[in-house]
Amino acid sequence: MAAFWRSASFMLMGNQHFTKHGYARASKSFDNSCMERSLAGRVCIVTGANSGLGFTCSQELARRGATLYMVCRNEERGRQALEKVKADSGNSNVHLAVCDVSSLASVASFAADWLASSRPCHLLVNNAGVLLSERMTTPEGYEQSFATNALGTAALTQRLMPALLAGAPSRVIIVSSGGMYTETLRLDDLQHASLQPWNGSAAYSRDKRRQVAMTEHLAAAMAGQGVGCYSMHPGWADTEGVRSSIPGFHKAFQDKLRDTQQGADTILWLALEDEAKLQPGAFYLDRSPQAKHLTLGGTHYSPQQAAQLWEQLMAMAGLPGQAGAAAAAAAGAPQQ
Ligand SMILES: NC(=O)c1ccc[n+]([C@@H]2O[C@H](COP(=O)([O-])OP(=O)(O)OC[C@H]3O[C@@H](n4cnc5c(N)ncnc54)[C@H](OP(=O)(O)O)[C@@H]3O)[C@@H](O)[C@H]2O)c1
Repeated sequence: MAAFWRSASFMLMGNQHFTKHGYARASKSFDNSCMERSLAGRVCIVTGANSGLGFTCSQELARRGATLYMVCRNEERGRQALEKVKADSGNSNVHLAVCDVSSLASVASFAADWLASSRPCHLLVNNAGVLLSERMTTPEGYEQSFATNALGTAALTQRLMPALLAGAPSRVIIVSSGGMYTETLRLDDLQHASLQPWNGSAAYSRDKRRQVAMTEHLAAAMAGQGVGCYSMHPGWADTEGVRSSIPGFHKAFQDKLRDTQQGADTILWLALEDEAKLQPGAFYLDRSPQAKHLTLGGTHYSPQQAAQLWEQLMAMAGLPGQAGAAAAAAAGAPQQ
């Protein structure tokens, strides 16, 4: 019953706020004064940068002069996107990094190379995400949705923490989803074994809930250390991911979907706005912190449970459980 209530409330909320009409209403009160700030000298990483929101975000960061690393899992798709971003922005300081976020080994290798270069990181946008129509397992043996959206995102963030600390004040933005409203924080069954038959939307939403919880935990752990952590929902945007993963939804909502510029707007705003005006650990939609739970949704959890999630993810990734400077120092010496 609670699950039905949450899904119905989510769709009502989505119709009102997550569509392009919701964006149009919200944008009337936007203060755009930060939006044309230069990012010259700022080193930024965007994962899942070759398509959809990650690609648009990359274009916008590059246009503002950032030194940008586009993290893509497929070299050819990444190369094409890189050339387009360079050409459109006129910024030659844009680079491709091939990394599969769902692979702990690939994440470890990318982060080790990064740390070896002594480059700081001023902005990490954890955007790569998947919603899968069938259960898939990574070569490392993890369920793919969990491996990409939860485990890989957490491992990458933790492994890059020394670079984020070196770049402080720096920011981590985790691109979550409003779908998380429909799910509780599941600490048992991390890899969705109980979803029989497979339900890709439920797996996705559970992992997106975990992203919101891990952001809260990270924000608290990094307080006072100059690394701001934020999660956000882009709204419902017309991307390849939506077209291919949830074609029925795409068809039904085609005329209401945001364009990628509108979907990526809050990512960019979180990258540009004065730090003092942002709430660490908050979940943003259209530049405003949102409630993280639906009224009567029954999805509340404690900070201890968010910490427990982080510890479980770190244990799986072979990293120290504690987020923060001490753990970051340890993460600088890869353990696998
Ligand atoms: N669009 C929406 O309405 C919406 C709503 C809520 C949340 N979101 C979130 O927004 C983010 C971007 O989604 P999108 O709509 O822009 O989808 P998209 O067009 O499918 O883009 C997703 C990107 O992530 C990459 N990716 C997937 N798995 C990866 C991995 N293991 N390693 C590295 N990169 C990987 C994809 O690369 P490939 O091209 O190689 O597949 C692609 O570049 C996701 O986190 C999604 O959950 C989107």
